[in-house]
Amino acid sequence: MLYSEVVMDHFMNPRNVGTIADADGVGEVGNAKCGDIMRIYLKIKNDVIEDVKFETFGCGSAIASSSMATEMIKGKPLSQALTLTNKAVAEALDGLPAHKLHCSVLAEEAIKNAIKNYYDKNGIEYNEEQFKESAHEHGHCDI
Ligand code: FES
Repeated sequence: MLYSEVVMDHFMNPRNVGTIADADGVGEVGNAKCGDIMRIYLKIKNDVIEDVKFETFGCGSAIASSSMATEMIKGKPLSQALTLTNKAVAEALDGLPAHKLHCSVLAEEAIKNAIKNYYDKNGIEYNEEQFKESAHEHGHCDI
């Protein structure tokens, strides 16, 4: 079986799908190769992610990764959400096939972009290092 039961569950019943009209931070990333797009909406109070929603125009692995990633950061402080890696998301999904690992990178980067958007909008200082493009493998999107 190519996909784990956890992946199938999150793909068939994705958590936190939708938008937040008065979001405090919005982040969007796209994969240039496959054209898949992910958007994350955050509601933030006292540096804690009170609510999170996502929209993904993408493959099943991208949907499952976003669903899992949003579950992992909901109710967590921003500092903790910033440390979420695509590896941790893939592990929580009981693994992704090697050629689908890049799909989980979208979730990690969209979350970081949304937090950066929140910091920028509110004039909160941050360390650019935390938002550097990580050295993930980008690009190959062989569906
Ligand atoms: Fe493009 Fe999964 S994100 S194929």
